Amino acid sequence: MTNPTRTDDDELQARVDVLSLEQKVRLLTGADFWSLYPEPAAGLRRLVVSDGPAGVRGEKWDERETSANVPSPTALAATWDEARLERLGRLLAAEARRKGVDVLLAPTVNLHRTPYGGRHFECFSEDPLLTARIGTAYVRGVQAGGVGATVKHFVANDSETERFTLDARVDERTLRELYLAPFEVIVHEAGAWAVMAAYNSVNGTTMTEHPMLREVLQDEWGFDGVVMSDWYAARSTEPAANAALDLVMPGPTGPWGEALVAAVRDGRVEEAAVDDKVLRLLRLAARVGALDGVEPSAPHAEPWSDSDVATELRATAAASFVLARNDGPLLPLDRSALRRVAVLGPNAAVARTLGGGSATVFPPYTVSPLDGLRAALRSGVQVDHAIGVRSTDRLPPASMDLLRHPGASDPGVEVRFVAADGTVLGREHRTSATLTWLGSFGEDLPVSDVTAIEVHTRLRALETGTYLLGGSGLGHFRLAIDGAVAFDTTLGLPEGADPVEGMMRPPQQSVSAELDAGDEVTLVLHYQPQAAGGFGEADLAMVTFQLNVARQISEEEEFERAAALARNADVAIVLVGTTEEVESEGFDRDSLDLPGRQDELVRRIAEANPRTVVVVNSGAPVLLPWADEVPAVLLSWFPGQEFGNALAEVLLGDAEAGGRLPTTWPASAEGLPSTQPVDGVLAYDEGLFIGYRAYDRDEREPLYPFGHGLGYTTWEYVGIEASGDAAAGEDVAVRVRVRNTGNRRGREVCQVYASRPDGAVQRPPRWLVCSATVEADPGQEGTAEAAVSARSLAHWDVESHRWAVERGTYRLSAGRSSRDLRQSIEIIVDCER
Ligand code: BGC
Repeated sequence: MTNPTRTDDDELQARVDVLSLEQKVRLLTGADFWSLYPEPAAGLRRLVVSDGPAGVRGEKWDERETSANVPSPTALAATWDEARLERLGRLLAAEARRKGVDVLLAPTVNLHRTPYGGRHFECFSEDPLLTARIGTAYVRGVQAGGVGATVKHFVANDSETERFTLDARVDERTLRELYLAPFEVIVHEAGAWAVMAAYNSVNGTTMTEHPMLREVLQDEWGFDGVVMSDWYAARSTEPAANAALDLVMPGPTGPWGEALVAAVRDGRVEEAAVDDKVLRLLRLAARVGALDGVEPSAPHAEPWSDSDVATELRATAAASFVLARNDGPLLPLDRSALRRVAVLGPNAAVARTLGGGSATVFPPYTVSPLDGLRAALRSGVQVDHAIGVRSTDRLPPASMDLLRHPGASDPGVEVRFVAADGTVLGREHRTSATLTWLGSFGEDLPVSDVTAIEVHTRLRALETGTYLLGGSGLGHFRLAIDGAVAFDTTLGLPEGADPVEGMMRPPQQSVSAELDAGDEVTLVLHYQPQAAGGFGEADLAMVTFQLNVARQISEEEEFERAAALARNADVAIVLVGTTEEVESEGFDRDSLDLPGRQDELVRRIAEANPRTVVVVNSGAPVLLPWADEVPAVLLSWFPGQEFGNALAEVLLGDAEAGGRLPTTWPASAEGLPSTQPVDGVLAYDEGLFIGYRAYDRDEREPLYPFGHGLGYTTWEYVGIEASGDAAAGEDVAVRVRVRNTGNRRGREVCQVYASRPDGAVQRPPRWLVCSATVEADPGQEGTAEAAVSARSLAHWDVESHRWAVERGTYRLSAGRSSRDLRQSIEIIVDCER
């Protein structure tokens, strides 16, 4: 769609031709953590890249440079709404432009092979078709705003344990039908401008050197964009350069540079290969408008107003919430009957809007469930809150309402960059107790001159009690309280741990102090970062640490308080879930249980008040052993900055809970694929059978099946029709008629699954082939129309190494979920393709 014409290519080639080999090679490694070198001789300006996918972070990892925090990808996929995703992509493009970003490092289209995967929240679905549809819309929206999208991580990067080195062993058919499929569709249908090669190996070859880059991505699919390495994934000169990797990230050092120049001079890498990479890079630059005299492929997206951003994000969050259970129905709540509402649980007062790792962004604000409900219920309704239990034993970063900047009365900390001789080289006034620098400490502050970073602040106790004061990170910490050293210690990670684990779940040290309300103490945390250890380069800052402060609570008292509040309320809303320290890049989960005593809390609240709504705030499935003991369960994912407002709208019925599950919600941990490599090998032995495909084959009951989600009305499936010459290999148009049998307007996601029980080729019992949405008023009928492509019926034939459609009858079944199919029709395919 946005491929340049031949003339454009000639124009680009002419720019390549004026460059020397050194100039060309220099362009093929990043200039720093987030940018690429400019090259005036080719009319190329500096290009900036940024994560992705739940917002556009920009070049700083910093609360001072805020970004719209959109719902995480599992939530986006739960909308099943391509038009919405395309709009959201445009919002991301506008954000990118506002922040000077040319290329977004998103979307992540690896699959939910298993819910244990640490980045599950960052991927869309367990189903390749849904992933492809949502991913295509996302990329289209981003690129329509003149910003490049980077489809990542190519390929089979579906878990985190040993992610730098693991060898995913995946059979050819599974690779094609599941893991490569979303990349293929997005390259074809959205014309993605960049792809990121993953850290891991597939079938013995590391992805930055893999023949699939050329043979599949470029030659078969015609990808004309840039393949960049994941950060520090490029390990070699010749093999990577010859394998069609185009760009080594980050820079400025790496395995190319002079070594690549030498390899070209020696004839080990052809100069034509380098030229091709530079051409691709210039093509990307042209598309985003970074090349002198060349119009970008699309006009640059205009900024959105804050209120438009808020409206879009609130509506998207509401459209993603999955109403998994609604006995009674208890929801939506009748506002006029509410006098007292208890909003309970560890995820009620703190807005958990994001998962952890490179997907982190710094929202301008977040609305917690408690704040959202308080605002929506303002007049005359008493809203009580108790945390009930803690969801983590870890100390949180200090909250700014406890800290005062040393020289002033405003909240915050002073950061000092300190040289070896104690000289203060620079200062920052910050309003966060989590401090991260990736790349540089700022202009005029050479990284190698800084040997320590200090945080100076005044802590003011708001309540009397025991406070835990500490530091988290990798390296040496010394905490002084009112000038007296409280601890002086070195913290490290176990050998082999992922550096991102050091960022998201760093080791901690703390001391306790008894403080009365109003007491003030000065704190100085002196931190000497540990050498970045394998992940970073000496001349780049790679530093992250925290100042921690928390008041100890008595969990018994909180537990009892929560139960008492529930007992006296008209309705109890319990917010349980995970955090960005539980679901993150850099490590997988080792348990699917809700952390801490949350299950116990839910049961206790439900006992105290039969009108209990449980909101599960996690990016990926968790086990809900009490699911049948409470009347209402709403799955909210990590829903972005508008969380609380969207939740209030949905619970009070101003918006419908619109989501359908993009992934199976398991009833137990039984039978799920593992994320643990054995001797460096992660065998995808389950083959095609992940998610619902496995549950259906084994006839096992998940807790909530793929596609499930109730909404606020009921639907009758009235009929199904199919037309189009399937026999001749054409798309089949499917029309599903549904009637709204409830008493409010609603939106239904009609899902169509194919099955082929009598085929000669092994297939899953059913697989998703298309979906479409319908909106209708009570009593009204609507028709969902969607196309079943020949390709969605095809399988990968391992004899001929191509897609093939078996001749014969295919059953198409439409319904509300993969386990609630209401209407079927058969189509006959008579030609093999
Ligand atoms: C992640 C990528 C990310 C990159 C830059 C890597 O660790 O795997 O998804 O884009 O870092 O932050």
